[in-house]
Amino acid sequence: MKLFVDTGDIEEVRQAAEWGILDGVTTNPTLIAKTGHGFKETVLKICDLVPNGAISAEVVATDYDTMLKEALEIHSWHPNIVVKVPLIEPGVHLVKTLSDKNIKTNVTLVFTVSQALLAAKAGATFISNFVGRVDDISDEGMVAVSKTVQMVENYGYDSEVLVASVRHPLHVVQAVEAGAHICTLPFKIMSMLFKHPLTDAGLKRFLSDWNDAGLSIFPKEA
Ligand code: G3P
Repeated sequence: MKLFVDTGDIEEVRQAAEWGILDGVTTNPTLIAKTGHGFKETVLKICDLVPNGAISAEVVATDYDTMLKEALEIHSWHPNIVVKVPLIEPGVHLVKTLSDKNIKTNVTLVFTVSQALLAAKAGATFISNFVGRVDDISDEGMVAVSKTVQMVENYGYDSEVLVASVRHPLHVVQAVEAGAHICTLPFKIMSMLFKHPLTDAGLKRFLSDWNDAGLSIFPKEA
């Protein structure tokens, strides 16, 4: 499963990229607004930090003609950019247009398998199923992810299912269980994936026993 970090924070991207497990970055208008910096400059810095990654950058218009102009502008900034498009009627039309031009798209704000079907039929590269915002209203967001994975596989669509709106590490586990292709997660949650108390305790015991035995990897200095 590919892992993307869901942020516009350059330092978070830098750290996640350093770990060597980062496959891409997703941004959205809220995450970009939080940076206090310009959209293009932020996206291009992210592209530089993740040279082999898919970098999602979202249009903000809601009419087809303006969305298309924005999409072509964003696409022109860097070859690794994936144009992020909301699942609304003009957005699906735009995804079809961009797909026909071989421009990669990430269809966002997807909550149902029927919405995901429209995105897949339009040729979406990624389908961003939001799970946390569904869980936030006491429902089970991951159900639509499982159905979307099944739908893509049943009909042989090329779209990759991207689990988004992740709230905790269990969402990542559930994304794996659902067979999702990608999971995008906040940096804080990506950091939590490393953690386990038994790992900490086990390492502490290894090092204690090693040191107690007075051992060294390198030849002891005479
Ligand atoms: O960026 C897309 C998605 O991951 C954002 O979800 O609910 O954390 O705003 P949320």
